[in-house]
Amino acid sequence: MSKSAKLAVLGSINADHILNLAHFPRPGETVIGKQYTVAFGGKGANQAVAAGRAGADIAFIACLGDDAIGERILAQLAQDNIDTAPVETVSGEPTGVAMIFVNGEGENTIGICAGANAALTPACVARHQQAIADASALLMQLESPLESVLAAAKMARASQTQVILNPAPATPLDDELLALVDIITPNETEAESLTGIAVSNDDDAARAAAVLHAKGIPTVLITLGRRGVWLSEQGKGQRIAGFTVKAVDTIAAGDTFNGAFITARLEGQSLHDAVRFAHAAAAIAVTRPGAQPSVPWRTEIDEFLLQQG
Ligand code: RIB
Repeated sequence: MSKSAKLAVLGSINADHILNLAHFPRPGETVIGKQYTVAFGGKGANQAVAAGRAGADIAFIACLGDDAIGERILAQLAQDNIDTAPVETVSGEPTGVAMIFVNGEGENTIGICAGANAALTPACVARHQQAIADASALLMQLESPLESVLAAAKMARASQTQVILNPAPATPLDDELLALVDIITPNETEAESLTGIAVSNDDDAARAAAVLHAKGIPTVLITLGRRGVWLSEQGKGQRIAGFTVKAVDTIAAGDTFNGAFITARLEGQSLHDAVRFAHAAAAIAVTRPGAQPSVPWRTEIDEFLLQQG
């Protein structure tokens, strides 16, 4: 029996502490910031929110702390069209935290403390096996324990649930995990860390994609920042350009891309059209500050695409 087009996202939840400053502090230097904000983030939560706001039927498997910000995040996730039944509150642990500097060019550096995200263990994943089995696709990143990502990928494979891995932040991965992945979405840095190939042009992207195909991954999407995305299916590659907008900050641009991309795929859009839809969502996100506050709703993405013709 074929499944309905449900999505499961497994990943992290963070409270993002964002400081905007003219330039990143060098070691030993103190830089006076321009603006400080606390916003909801975490790669898993950002991708879940991107999918929820884009219209996916989505369940989110995650852990947060038993603190005030955890309560607020949980309430917001539910308002973002997400089934939060598989989000566990971990007693005695704080919600994950990300310390983010954003410089005058809109670039960022991020340091994270896992907090309750570390409690997303294989045993925790097993408690939510049904959400994975019920889904047509499982989207994951690497801010959760690696053994849990592997356990979830195995459950997905056993249930004919497609596995989409956004291998961020860059982390060395075993071939055992890569062989369970159907679609991988690294950026240039992550592609280099997985393949040893520095990606600075289309030829490099094609060679990096070939290495990932050889590990057993049928579809490779390498995000190339302003240059768009390298899409490679079983070795047949093409670059799909993004949209040019004035960026305020790039926090969660990749997360928005991933959540919107898989939403479009589950609606039956072609890989090419799903990438274009995801480009539109990410383009909107970079024009706004912060992680989840920047993620667009479906009507905004459709409107943007209409305007682009
Ligand atoms: O991808 C952006 C995210 O990375 C931020 O929201 C922060 O929480 C870190 O996890």
